[in-house]
Amino acid sequence: MMELFSAVEQRRAIKHYDTDASVAEADFQQIMQAVLLSPTSYNIQHWRFVRVKSRDIRLKIKDAAWGQQQVEDASEVIVLCADTQAWADRPERYWANADETTQSILLPMLQSFYTGKEQTQRDEAMRSCGMAAQTLMLAAKALGYDTCPMIGFDEHAVADIIQLPESYVISMIITIGKAARAANVRGGQLSLAEALVEDRF
Ligand SMILES: Cc1cc2nc3c(=O)[nH]c(=O)nc-3n(C[C@H](O)[C@H](O)[C@H](O)COP(=O)(O)O)c2cc1C
Repeated sequence: MMELFSAVEQRRAIKHYDTDASVAEADFQQIMQAVLLSPTSYNIQHWRFVRVKSRDIRLKIKDAAWGQQQVEDASEVIVLCADTQAWADRPERYWANADETTQSILLPMLQSFYTGKEQTQRDEAMRSCGMAAQTLMLAAKALGYDTCPMIGFDEHAVADIIQLPESYVISMIITIGKAARAANVRGGQLSLAEALVEDRF
């Protein structure tokens, strides 16, 4: 299995896929089990993943994604969704293994953190999916698969297609498969000096 830093370096947004390839089911399960270990605030795990198996649904999503070919050609298409209200949905299960004292401290903390704060609820759901997304892409790469994260689609159209529940949001789509064509050269990375600030802006 690929070493972590190699996976980080070799993960690229792949848009051309081998249409004869597939993701072995055991690999898919291993990737998704790794995803479930991604960190989330208060361990809320907002994410809910739609694995698109129907070709009809896949082609509808491709249409909603302005015809992006990777949606049709990749071996797997996953829509990363999140429940913005997961924080209020039986939160005690997020700390099922913690002792009662810890649980009794966390519950009111979580309630006051999210109650009535719609923007924070949405931000948190998106953050959780961002964490899941990177784990998914690196785990896939470690097992020899390529991915493309995507936000280039009409989110309302995709929400309709997958019958997204009311309080949920779509964070992104990720395609998984085997590259048929390598990624272009990197677009151009900012220097660490530009991206990293010490103490304050
Ligand atoms: C949230 C997100 C959305 C993206 N949406 C698309 C997309 O809709 N279509 C596409 O071809 N690439 C998409 N990309 C890929 C980026 O263009 C790509 O990650 C970036 O240029 C860096 O290249 P690399 O991933 O190969 O290192 C997206 C990436 C991210 C993280």
